[in-house]
Amino acid sequence: MVHEPGLFEGGVVNGVPAWSGPRTAIVTGGGRGIGLAVSRRLCLEGASVAIFERDGDLAAAAAEEIAGEGGRVVAYEVDVADRQAVDEAVAATRQELGPATILVNNAGISPFKKFREITREELEQVFAVNVYGTIDCCQAVLGDMVTAGWGRIVNIASSSAQTGSVLQTHYSASKGAVIAFTRSLARELGSKGITVNAVPPSFIDTPSLQQAEESGFLGSGVEVLLQSMPIRRVGQPDDIAAAVAYLCRDDAGFVTGQVLGVNGGRVIG
Ligand SMILES: NC(=O)c1ccc[n+]([C@@H]2O[C@H](COP(=O)([O-])OP(=O)(O)OC[C@H]3O[C@@H](n4cnc5c(N)ncnc54)[C@H](O)[C@@H]3O)[C@@H](O)[C@H]2O)c1
Repeated sequence: MVHEPGLFEGGVVNGVPAWSGPRTAIVTGGGRGIGLAVSRRLCLEGASVAIFERDGDLAAAAAEEIAGEGGRVVAYEVDVADRQAVDEAVAATRQELGPATILVNNAGISPFKKFREITREELEQVFAVNVYGTIDCCQAVLGDMVTAGWGRIVNIASSSAQTGSVLQTHYSASKGAVIAFTRSLARELGSKGITVNAVPPSFIDTPSLQQAEESGFLGSGVEVLLQSMPIRRVGQPDDIAAAVAYLCRDDAGFVTGQVLGVNGGRVIG
């Protein structure tokens, strides 16, 4: 599914275009929540976007929504834990939109369970999506970035990796791995014109956070947790999208290996 560029084409911020030429971006988990906001924002700034989403219906609906607003977008049903499916979708993106030189690794799962009850299978599933999915997507797109001599990778981590999170030892460990991976990959790719950064959000109003709260996993609820944060509101997906968009711009080319907390001050320093 390919949609022609329309209203979104050529986003300009303060008179400075985001990029000197056309860009193609891949956003994983772009069907809803943070990934949907990032996909929309990158389209708004003038990129063509391929959504890699495990849920085919969500993927199609997201693409239709953004295309209806004028974005140039395609959607593929892809499980990022399936390396072959990732490789095929990267090839399809190259064919439909051109080589992808922006990658936003956003797809993630965030289960809650007591540490002693986490099974090996559950642990592996969290790492398969959050860690191996992130690493595999980077490997899959890297060839096109190296050829272009330009690339932007943004990995969505979590403030849980920095503060710890009750009932989320497996999840926090996986997001800590994403941050460490980001820093090391940045060192390896900087000389090739490719930046790699991480954005760890705190509480962002998405279906996943709403489900966690409804299931009672957030103690007395998000509103109570917010009372210990300098900015006492829940974050919005657009808060994350704005930070990701900045890191993907041409003029963020001197920023790499960084962990840009967009967390209402939950983590400082
Ligand atoms: N919402 C928050 O408060 C919060 C806080 C910290 C970190 N994060 C992180 O931000 C990212 C997005 O979170 P969200 O709240 O928007 O989640 P969400 O569950 O609302 O949306 C995630 C999307 O990713 C897709 N997805 C899941 N597994 C996938 C896979 N294997 N392959 C492809 N797509 C897959 C889902 O179908 C869904 O559309 C996640 O990595 C999450 O860990 C979120």
